[in-house]
Amino acid sequence: MTLVKGEGSRLWDDQGNMYLDFMSGIAVTNLGHAPERVKTRVQQQLDTLWHVSNLFRIPQQEQAAELLAANTCADAVFFCNSGAEANEAAIKLARRYHAKVAQTGRSEIITFEQSFHGRTLATLTATGQDKVKDGFAPLPAGFRYVPFNDIAALKAAVNENTAAIMLEIVQGEGGVLPIKASFAAEVAQLCAANGILLIVDEVQTGMGRTGALFAHEHYGLKPDIFTAAKGLGSGFPVGAMLAQEHLREAFGPGSHGSTFGGNPLAMSAVLGTLETMLEDKAAVRAAEKGTYLLNALRVKLSDVSAVKDIRGIGLLIGIECHEPVSNMIADAQRAGLLFISAGPNVIRLLPNLLVTEEDMDEAVDIIHTVLAKRSAAVTTIS
Ligand SMILES: Cc1ncc(COP(=O)(O)O)c(C=O)c1O
Repeated sequence: MTLVKGEGSRLWDDQGNMYLDFMSGIAVTNLGHAPERVKTRVQQQLDTLWHVSNLFRIPQQEQAAELLAANTCADAVFFCNSGAEANEAAIKLARRYHAKVAQTGRSEIITFEQSFHGRTLATLTATGQDKVKDGFAPLPAGFRYVPFNDIAALKAAVNENTAAIMLEIVQGEGGVLPIKASFAAEVAQLCAANGILLIVDEVQTGMGRTGALFAHEHYGLKPDIFTAAKGLGSGFPVGAMLAQEHLREAFGPGSHGSTFGGNPLAMSAVLGTLETMLEDKAAVRAAEKGTYLLNALRVKLSDVSAVKDIRGIGLLIGIECHEPVSNMIADAQRAGLLFISAGPNVIRLLPNLLVTEEDMDEAVDIIHTVLAKRSAAVTTIS
């Protein structure tokens, strides 16, 4: 399938077929396709200046950083070009903080089974899924993995070399698995009591996706470092690592950098996205729409035997099935609805944050038809 045009919640392929987009380029087009104010900002910047080196001040970068800092617990921002790069920067900052500022010499990062943090060598090593590491040895040292939401296992893994704990608030790629509130609180306590940095990977959960600008807000967490990408530029490739004040001096001039990171063109997309998101209260709307969609799915799919569980926060919703969902994705596509999987058995729904109730109703109807057909097929076979 080749998609050639997008507008709001809709996509068109090169044959002229229209689709309802419930994947948003995997949590990227959070404001829908071609959002007006982002487009205007980028177009204006295209006419003015595309790129200058970070050797110079870039006012758009400073504005974007100020806007992020004003609306989060972060005090400092580093811009890069993707989620993996943002997480790579977070890992480097945590290690350098322990080497140069706290001077503890700690280097180990604890992450979680089923997590996903990217595909650079360090971030695929941080990822708690073997499939992304296959064939890439030798991998960087200094990572340790524990089961998600298991505080006893986490406490047992912490030692005098633990520099940071890195987690997702909802494991998106891992199967739409939300953090337990009690676990979130215990991790925060564990970090504070032991001088361990808390890194939250908000690449998928950030930018309003879960009904808050960043998902850690739901749990009252104040991560030392967190990351963003995907929805940050509405489709323009950009990432960010955000950190609290005490981390600032860990990166001095020359210790980390990026040629393209934070250039005027990318920052115009970020500014347009953030301004729209804040002015339109997109996160609050995502929370309301998420509740509507979750309820509608639970009601409509209550008697569909293919369904094992329906869960999620805001507009990051998973439908866990008793069987692989690849055929269901293809069936839905033929019926005009696009969504993706999260692991083999979970359907992942990621509509844009401004999606209408009519669009959600239409999507729920298609999902019901597709899943009921699978249930009927399974029943017939058995
Ligand atoms: C939680 C999380 N972290 C990191 C990444 C990697 O981001 P990117 O593909 O932009 O490098 C992803 C991508 O799916 C993600 O979901």
